[in-house]
Amino acid sequence: MALVRIFDQDQTLTDQREIASYLAAFGIDYERWQPAHHVAEDAPAEAILQAYSNEIEQLKARGGYVTADVIDVGPETVGLAEMLSKFNREHWHDEDEVRFVIAGHGLFHIRPENGRVVAIEVEAGDLIRVPRGTWHWFNLCADCRIRAIRLFQDVVGWTPHYTDSHVDENFLPVCLGPTYLSQVSSDES
Ligand SMILES: [Fe+2]
Repeated sequence: MALVRIFDQDQTLTDQREIASYLAAFGIDYERWQPAHHVAEDAPAEAILQAYSNEIEQLKARGGYVTADVIDVGPETVGLAEMLSKFNREHWHDEDEVRFVIAGHGLFHIRPENGRVVAIEVEAGDLIRVPRGTWHWFNLCADCRIRAIRLFQDVVGWTPHYTDSHVDENFLPVCLGPTYLSQVSSDES
């Protein structure tokens, strides 16, 4: 389940419906997907795409996406730091950024125009669609791993354009995940 932090209100959302409706105001889609049949997180890419083919086809029809693939990065990935350095600065794309997480974690920061920064932490089962033109940046979490389905309208459009605002430098890329949830449950008990 995703976790959304609204910094200026010192608020954290953990409820799926609350998250979806909050993000919808920025044009961001958030959904939870269930596979049509069990598929291991380390299954071959074709098996992953097959297990989620219904959802992928629906999304393709909705968003005009033409291709889907599976990206896989982890601590052992050669050139990981260099790869991440392209996306951990505020940027936008000419096409939507669509990710469905199979394994690992990711942290999107979004800065809506005339809006305040919001962090969206995603994990396995989370789909996020960040519309084209949205200012954002991306980090991995402590596990340094993400495996995700990506959908593209046009792979050429996925080149980052940098805002050079340096706003991203004001936000530590900290994932809360289970730490936050265990803290909440102990506060409630
Ligand atoms: Fe991006």
